[in-house]
Amino acid sequence: MSRTERVLSNAAAGAAMVLLVYLLWIGLAVPYALIAQQPAAIASSTPAPTLLVAVDQRTVLSLNGDWHYIVDPYDSGLGGGRSGYPMDEELPAGSNKLLEYSFAKSPTIKVPGDWNTQKESLLYYEGGFWYERHFQYQPQAGHRAFVDIGAANYRSRVWVNGQLLCTHEGGFTQFDCEATKAVKAGENSVVIFVDSTRIADGVPTLKTDWWNYGGLTRDVSLVTVPQSFIDDFELHLDRATRSVIEGFVHVEGAQPGTPVTVDLPEAKLHLDGVTDAAGRVAVNLSARGLTLWSPENPKLYHVVLKSGDDTLTDEMGFRTIETSGSRILLNGNPIVLHGVCIHAEAPYRSGRVNNDKDVATLLGWVKELGANYVRLAHYPHDQRMTRAADRMGILVWSEVPVYWAVEFEREDVFAKSQQQLHEEIRRDRDKASVILWSIANETPNNPTRTAFLTRSANFVHQEDPTRLVTAALLVRGDSKTKYIDDPLGNALDVIGFNEYVGWYEGTPETADSVEWKVAFDKPLITSEFGGGAKAGMHGANDTRWSEEYQAEIYRHQIAMLNKIPQLRGTTPWILMDFRSPVRELPGIQDGYNRKGLISDQGQKKAAFYVLQKAYKENGLGHAE
Ligand code: GCU
Repeated sequence: MSRTERVLSNAAAGAAMVLLVYLLWIGLAVPYALIAQQPAAIASSTPAPTLLVAVDQRTVLSLNGDWHYIVDPYDSGLGGGRSGYPMDEELPAGSNKLLEYSFAKSPTIKVPGDWNTQKESLLYYEGGFWYERHFQYQPQAGHRAFVDIGAANYRSRVWVNGQLLCTHEGGFTQFDCEATKAVKAGENSVVIFVDSTRIADGVPTLKTDWWNYGGLTRDVSLVTVPQSFIDDFELHLDRATRSVIEGFVHVEGAQPGTPVTVDLPEAKLHLDGVTDAAGRVAVNLSARGLTLWSPENPKLYHVVLKSGDDTLTDEMGFRTIETSGSRILLNGNPIVLHGVCIHAEAPYRSGRVNNDKDVATLLGWVKELGANYVRLAHYPHDQRMTRAADRMGILVWSEVPVYWAVEFEREDVFAKSQQQLHEEIRRDRDKASVILWSIANETPNNPTRTAFLTRSANFVHQEDPTRLVTAALLVRGDSKTKYIDDPLGNALDVIGFNEYVGWYEGTPETADSVEWKVAFDKPLITSEFGGGAKAGMHGANDTRWSEEYQAEIYRHQIAMLNKIPQLRGTTPWILMDFRSPVRELPGIQDGYNRKGLISDQGQKKAAFYVLQKAYKENGLGHAE
C-alpha cells in the first residue's frame, strides 16, 4: 500500500473518528444547551436558604469595583458544562484548545451599578450578562463564608471557583450564598450570571413605568462569620407601655443553651439569655427612659449582640407606630405624613442609586421640601436609603414591586412576592424610619387579586406585627365623585390611593368640585397625585407641560385633598424626573417621566415651592 493510500486510509479512519465524536457531541451538548436555555424554571427553584441581617454593620471583604463582563443574549455561557463560563477558564499561552470566551480579555464594568448607564451600547439591553472577578481569601477554620449581594436585577446565579452556590429571583432585595465549601486559600474566582429579561410571571411583570436597569446594582461582598453566628434578630418597643424592648435573637448553628447578650451601652441596658432548641433567645428588656425615635429627634442607639465568637452591632431607633381609628399614632401621638415619592434613580447621572452621595442629594431635597416622610417606589431601595432616613428622621413607606397586573392567579407568583416581602422585611425591620410595608401598587380590583393580596397582608402582619400594612389602590368614580371602596382596603391598616385629577383626567380646576366617598374608617394617604412639566418650560396656567400648569395642579389638589377629614398623609408623584421606556414625547419627555418636582439635573420646578409652602405651613392633611 503506497504512502498516499496509507495516509488517505488513515485520514478516512481519522475522519470517521472525528465524525463519530462530533455526532456524540451533538447527541450530548445540544439537549444540555436546550435545558440551559430555560433559566426561569431553574432560577426560582432554589432560593438562597441563609439571609444575613445588618451585613452593612459587619467587617466584610468588599467585592465592589471593576468586574469583567460578557454580554450573553443567548445564554450560551450556561451551556457547555466544563467549558461553560462559570468555570472561568483561561488558556495557558500557546494552548491550542478551543475556548470561546475569556473574562481576562473582556472589558470591565463597575459593581455596584446597572449596566445600562455605564455603556451607551447597553442602555436598552435586557438579557443575560456575565460578571467575573478574582479575589484573594484565607479561609478560617471554624468559620463560614457567604457571598452577600445587595441586589441583582432580575434573576441571578452565583459561582465561586466553578461551584454553583445559589440562584435568586427578584431584582431589589438582598440575598446570601454560602461559599464555605467553595472558597480556597489564595486566588479565588467569582462568576455571577444576571438575567434582566422581563417575564410575565415575574414580580414585577412585563410592563413598568420605570427603566429596567439590569445588573449587580448594589454592594457585593464576602462575609465571614464563626460556625455559629447571629443571622437574625428583631428588637422593638412594646406598643402598650413603650418601656420594654421585646423581640428575639437567632443564632444559626447554636447548641441549645448557648449564651447570648444584648447591650445598649448608652442606655445602660443589658440582657443575658441562652438559646432554645431552635437557636432563639426571646428578648424582654425593661427600657424605661429611652429617648424615642421621631422625625423631630431621630435618636439612634448603638446595639451590641454577642454570642460565642460572634458580635453583631447595629444603630437602632426605638419608637411605636400604630393606628387608632382613622389616625396614625407615632409614639402614641397623632401624626400627619408630609411626603413625596422617590424612585431609586440617581440624580444627575441617572441609573440606579447605589452610593451615599445619591442618597444625600435625594433626601436633602426631601428635607428642603419640609417633608418628614417618603414613599420608596415601587420596590425596596438600597439599604443606604433607609439607614439615612433613620439618621435624618424621615419616615418611610417601603414597597415590593407587585405592580399593575402581575399574574395573581399563579401560586408561584404569590411565592415570589412573599419571598420578596420576607427579604425586604428581614433587611429593614431594624429601621425605626420604616413604618409602612406596601404590598402592591395600582392592581386591578378583582376577587383573584384581592385574595392574593389579602394573603400578602396577612403574611406581612405575621412577619412583622410591629408595623403597618398598606397598598396604593386605584379609585373609581367620575369627575364629580370619587369612591375609595376597593375591598382590599379591609385587609390594610392604612389605605393608600392614587389619583391624577388635573393630569390624566380633567384640568387642574376639576379638583375643585370633586367629592370623595370613603368606605373605611382607616387612615388615608394619597400615595400619588401630580402631573408632568418640562423644567424651564414656562407658559399660561393651562399650558400642559409648563411649570405653571404643574404648579396649578398642586394648588387645586392641595385644596381638594384637605377636604378629606381622614387624610393623614400625601406623597405626590414624584420628587425627581426618572427614566422610563414608556415616555417618548420628543423635546419634553425624551425617555423620562417628567412628573418630578425637580428635573433629573436638579432644577426645581415651580410646583416644588407650592408643595414646600403647604408642608412648611402644615397645610396639607390632618393629624386628627
Ligand atoms: C402610576 C404609577 C407610577 C407611574 C405614574 C405615572 O400611578 O404608579 O409608577 O409612573 O402613575 O403615570 O406617571
